[in-house]
Amino acid sequence: MNNPSTILTPLNRRNFLKRGSAAVAGGALLGALAPERFAHGASGNDPLKVALIGCGGRGSGAANQALNTYNQGPLKLVAMADVHEDRLTESLNNLKKTHADRVDVPPERQFVGFDGYKKALAECDVAILATPPGFRPMQFEEAIAQGKHVFMEKPVAADAAGVRKVLAAAEEAKRKNLKVGVGLQRHHHLGYQETIKRLHDGAIGDIVSARCYWNGSRPWQKRRADLEKIYGRPLTEMEYQLRNWYYFTWICGDHIAEQHIHNLDVINWAKNALPVKARAMGGREITNSPDDGEIYDHFACEFEYEDGAVCFSYCRQQPGCWNSVSEHVVGTKGRSEVSGQKIFGDNQWRYNAEGAKDPYQQEHDALFDAIRNNKEFNEAFYGANSTMMAVLGRMAAYSGTEITWEAALNSKIELMPKNLAWDAEAPVKPGADGFYARAIPGKTVVL
Ligand SMILES: NC(=O)c1ccc[n+]([C@@H]2O[C@H](COP(=O)([O-])OP(=O)(O)OC[C@H]3O[C@@H](n4cnc5c(N)ncnc54)[C@H](O)[C@@H]3O)[C@@H](O)[C@H]2O)c1
Repeated sequence: MNNPSTILTPLNRRNFLKRGSAAVAGGALLGALAPERFAHGASGNDPLKVALIGCGGRGSGAANQALNTYNQGPLKLVAMADVHEDRLTESLNNLKKTHADRVDVPPERQFVGFDGYKKALAECDVAILATPPGFRPMQFEEAIAQGKHVFMEKPVAADAAGVRKVLAAAEEAKRKNLKVGVGLQRHHHLGYQETIKRLHDGAIGDIVSARCYWNGSRPWQKRRADLEKIYGRPLTEMEYQLRNWYYFTWICGDHIAEQHIHNLDVINWAKNALPVKARAMGGREITNSPDDGEIYDHFACEFEYEDGAVCFSYCRQQPGCWNSVSEHVVGTKGRSEVSGQKIFGDNQWRYNAEGAKDPYQQEHDALFDAIRNNKEFNEAFYGANSTMMAVLGRMAAYSGTEITWEAALNSKIELMPKNLAWDAEAPVKPGADGFYARAIPGKTVVL
C-alpha cells in the first residue's frame, strides 16, 4: 500500500533531498518520547476514551465503526459535541441501541455549541471529527494540541488556509506520535489496495493520463422554508447556512471537494504524485433556487503533473445525465480501471472480490490497531493534499484561470469567518431576491 509520506507536498518538495536526515531526526525524537505515549489501552485494561464531534450521519457511522473495534481491546464513547442539540441527541440514542455497554455520555459530557469540541476533546484519547469540512482545520489543530489521536472525515478543509493549518498540525501529530486516520476509505478497500500495489509495481508502466468522475444528482437539501416550519421561527442566517451547509462553499468546499475528492485522491495515490497546475471550467445550469446557495452543479478540470501527465476530472450534480463514480489510468504499457479493480495489457488482471470487507470498518480497525500497538499511522498528509487538489480545481473553475498548486496553496483568501456564533455575520449573504452570488469565471478572484 502507498505510504502517505511518499507523496510530496509542495511544502516539502523543496526539502525532498533532505528527507534522509529528517527521517533520522524523527526517529531520534520518537525515541525521546515518554513510553506511556505508546501504551494507550495496550494493557487491555484501560478503555480507550472516544469523543464524537459532529454527530450527524457520517459521524454516527464512524462512531459505530470505532466502537466495533472492541475485539481489539476495551473502548467507550465518553463525550459528544455538536452545534445542534437535536443532532447530538438523535445520534446518542441510536448509538446506545447498538452499543449499550460502550456508550457512556452523560449530560455533563454532551457539549452543544461552537466551542463544544474543545471540551469534548479534553475528555478523550481518540477524537472523531465529522462536522462539515470548513470546521475541520480548527478542530484538528486543537485535537493535536491537546495530544489526541484522531479520525477525521474528508475533506479536511474547505480552503487553502485550512489545508495549510491541517498540514502543520499533521507535522505536529507526527512529532507527538499521534495516530491520524482520514475518511478516504478507498485506501482501506482491499481491491483498491491490491490494484494500486500492482500499478506501483509497474503493471502498466508509467501513468501518462487519468480520468475520474463523480457524476450523479444533488444530495440532500435543507430548504429555509421547511426549516422555519420545523423550528417554528425564522432562523438566523448563520443557523440556516449551517443546517443547509452543503450549499455554502465556506463550510462545504463545494461538491468537487465534498464528493469528488475521493476520485482525485485515488489518481494521486496511483500516480504517487501531486499535480502542479490546473485549468478548469464549471458553473450552475440546472439547480437554481436560493436554497442552492453559492455552489456550482458541475466542474470539468485538467490537472497537470510535473511529468506532463494529465488527469481529466469531471463532477456533476445533474439528474438524468450520464452518471459515473470511477477512476481510470492509462500507462505506457497498459491501462487500469482502478475503481473496477482491473488491469488491461500485458499484465492483465482482475481483483477477486470474494471475502471483500467493508472499507469504512477497515479504516477504523487499522487506526485503532495502530493506536493500541504503536504502529505508524498518519493519513493527514494525503488527506490534506487530496483536499488541496479539489480546492485547486475549484479555484481554477471559479476564476476561469490556470492556477499553479503553489499559488493556490499560498492563497491569502480565508473563507472561514473569525466570529462563530448564531447571531454573527455569515460570510455570504443573500441578495434582495434571496439568491446568493456565485463565482463568475473571468471575474472572481481566488488568490
Ligand atoms: N467518507 C465518506 O464516504 C463520507 C460520507 C458521508 C459524509 N462524509 C463527510 O463527513 C462529514 C459530515 O457529513 P455528514 O453527512 O455526516 O453531515 P451531517 O450534516 O449529517 O453531519 C454534520 C454534523 O456536524 C454538526 N456540526 C456542524 N458544524 C459544527 C461545529 N462547528 N461543531 C460541531 N458540530 C458541528 C451538524 O450539526 C451535524 O450534526 C463531511 O465532511 C462529509 O464530507 C464522508
